[in-house]
Amino acid sequence: METEAQTLTYAVIGATGKSGRRVADLLETEGYDIRRLARGTSPRFDWEEPEGWERALRGVDRLYVTYVPDLAAPGSDAAITRLVEVAREAEVGRVVLLSGRGEQGARRCEEIVLGSGIPATVVSASWFTQNFTEGALSGALQSGFLAIAAGQMREPFVDVDDVAAVVVTVLTRDGHEGHRYELTGPEPLTFGEVAALLTELTGRDIRYVPMDFDEFHAAVLQEAGPETATLLTELCREVFDGRNEKPTDGVREILGRAPRGVRAVLADALTAARRA
Ligand SMILES: NC(=O)c1ccc[n+]([C@@H]2O[C@H](COP(=O)([O-])OP(=O)(O)OC[C@H]3O[C@@H](n4cnc5c(N)ncnc54)[C@H](OP(=O)(O)O)[C@@H]3O)[C@@H](O)[C@H]2O)c1
Repeated sequence: METEAQTLTYAVIGATGKSGRRVADLLETEGYDIRRLARGTSPRFDWEEPEGWERALRGVDRLYVTYVPDLAAPGSDAAITRLVEVAREAEVGRVVLLSGRGEQGARRCEEIVLGSGIPATVVSASWFTQNFTEGALSGALQSGFLAIAAGQMREPFVDVDDVAAVVVTVLTRDGHEGHRYELTGPEPLTFGEVAALLTELTGRDIRYVPMDFDEFHAAVLQEAGPETATLLTELCREVFDGRNEKPTDGVREILGRAPRGVRAVLADALTAARRA
């Protein structure tokens, strides 16, 4: 029998990204009507082209928002303010926003969404474990060097499949409106410990190279240009000061089970990559 939530249209902004793809896939598997939104979809959604947002959100009942490059980036608050205006006009009935844990700039965007008048939930996540296998840090698998300005700080990396399962729960079930959930994995690890795990699981030598902020900025500048270099350097400076080391019980609170640990997630991802 169809529940009321199953008769609604769900949209995912960033539906080809790490969390968005998983959220869209889970919703589809559970039988929900789903509209995937990104720059290559129809309708198209581009953060740089607000004139197309109304068309993308027309007829949408529930919306999952992932913002790029990051809610801590300059201009994110203006974009999120405009998005919630368009969503309100389109009569979107529920919004879930993905946020980055411990980022001051992201908190401004969270407040905009939570104060928008649209029933909303914020899911604030620690760094994804999948950054090492499908994200910005996956180059270490080829180069053998995991280079980042994180010192000996510990991060309770979270499984993005856990994040997606939480997002789907709060999107489809009542009672989470107005809440902000912090999601982490079960144990804080240094990047050196992750490099050691990657070495063990791949059988290849992968070393952590702790950079200072200037070295890191120069390295990213070469690869990705000045905006990304400044954004990522400032993010490292902000969040790797110890504020995010402590794990939370957000995943257990929503899913009723423990979050998956880094070793299990990496092992599964590397096995899947070998089979592909
Ligand atoms: N990665 C993490 O560890 C982490 C942790 C916590 C929170 N977050 C938050 O997650 C968000 C995205 O991060 P992610 O690492 O998951 O991203 P991602 O995997 O790189 O995915 C980015 C998504 O955004 C789309 N996109 C790129 N440029 C776009 C544009 N101009 N307009 C519309 N869509 C665009 C991409 O699709 P197309 O290229 O197909 O358009 C893709 O679907 C950020 O707000 C970040 O703060 C990330």
